Amino acid sequence: MESYQIIIFASGSGSNAENIINYFSKKTMKINWLILTNNSNAGVIERAKRLKIDYKAFSKEDLYKNSFLKYLVSLNPTLIILAGFLLKLPETIINSFNQRIINIHPSLLPKYGGKGMYGIHVHRAIIENKESVSGITIHYVTSNYDEGPIIFQKEVNIDSSDTAKDLANKIHNLEMDYFPKVVEKILIK
Ligand code: GAR
Repeated sequence: MESYQIIIFASGSGSNAENIINYFSKKTMKINWLILTNNSNAGVIERAKRLKIDYKAFSKEDLYKNSFLKYLVSLNPTLIILAGFLLKLPETIINSFNQRIINIHPSLLPKYGGKGMYGIHVHRAIIENKESVSGITIHYVTSNYDEGPIIFQKEVNIDSSDTAKDLANKIHNLEMDYFPKVVEKILIK
């Protein structure tokens, strides 16, 4: 049976990380998971402990060290998943894992991407602009922030009464439904 090494980078709650790991726990594929976080208070750490998944916290400075790149290369990951990871990866890392790093973004890129556009900030901007649809984008990571080739998008309608929080919930549901399936497709292709 083929085995996979998957690294998940997360900065926050980690609901996507947990959902992906749970999804694959019901499959026959053998996957070695590692969660990396730049935030030692991140909710994702509690989830990793509960799920008994290896995790490591690192600093923003570590991210730019050659030793960090070497560490990642030594793990020979099949895939690197950015799931609510809020720092920009250095180009040296991006270039070392061509087409092996994917990110999820809570809007229909290229709309509402770029610096400062993460989490609830995205949803607030969308509601303020009275958009009638939003959605999720899963894309390959390139050195142009939020601009890599799109793998998957799914839309959701916004009602005129929806608040940013309502939209966040709709987006969360899409992420829970689709992100693991897209990861699976990438792995088995
Ligand atoms: C997700 O909604 C993800 O799309 C978003 O952060 C959230 C992380 O939630 N990512 C970005 O905004 C990236 N620019 P989680 O920690 O519960 O998985």
